[in-house]
Amino acid sequence: MRLSKFLAEAGVASRRQAEKLIASGRVKVNGSKVLKQGYKIDPGSDKVELDGKIVFIQDKKVYLLLNKPPGYISSVVDSWGRPTVIDLVEDIKERIYPVGRLDFDTEGLLLLSNDGDFANLMTHPRYKIKKKYEAWVEGDVKTAALKLLAEGVVLDDGLTAPARVHVLKRQEGKTLLELEIHEGRKRQVKRMCSAVGHELISLKRTAFSFLTLEGVPLGKYRHLSLEEVERLKRIAGGGT
Ligand code: URA
Repeated sequence: MRLSKFLAEAGVASRRQAEKLIASGRVKVNGSKVLKQGYKIDPGSDKVELDGKIVFIQDKKVYLLLNKPPGYISSVVDSWGRPTVIDLVEDIKERIYPVGRLDFDTEGLLLLSNDGDFANLMTHPRYKIKKKYEAWVEGDVKTAALKLLAEGVVLDDGLTAPARVHVLKRQEGKTLLELEIHEGRKRQVKRMCSAVGHELISLKRTAFSFLTLEGVPLGKYRHLSLEEVERLKRIAGGGT
């Protein structure tokens, strides 16, 4: 790889500016000053320095929004050999992993990334990122159950934080609820519904903070824009 390209990919300068840095004698390869334009290096083995500081190419950060179908596990590998969400992602050479998790049978919005700090911000309970779900549950959900779900129900790992809950649809023997929660406990929606006497039939995550599934068909994904990533980080920082 050309030395100037290496410097540009490392984020040191543009290709043209990198050529100037080289010409001005500020760049060394394996301890020797390089002045020649077009000089080639092996990024895997050569040591490049700018003003005496070693230059690395960082792995590119990748942020994906996946519309997960049911029947996929939210991990990189599964010891039972079941399909994983990573199987749905093509053309991405970086080692990405799910940011948080959706259960095997749950569908909907799941973020994938190789940015550990971002993943921590998005999943740590302290940062209270809002998540919206549509849940079909058994039975006719009455006001008392809705109130309980909204105010907090006692699960085996403690009382749930207040949630927003309302009925989207009622059909013979089942109800479609929309729930917005900001905790991320294991099987939380399933356990909350079960705790108020309504077993979960199916679950879909429709929103993660301000992100929705709009324009992303089931089983497909899109890249987040830089603005979206920055906005998510700001929201986590602001605790809303
Ligand atoms: N709550 C659940 O019960 N399951 C999920 O996959 C996500 C939230």
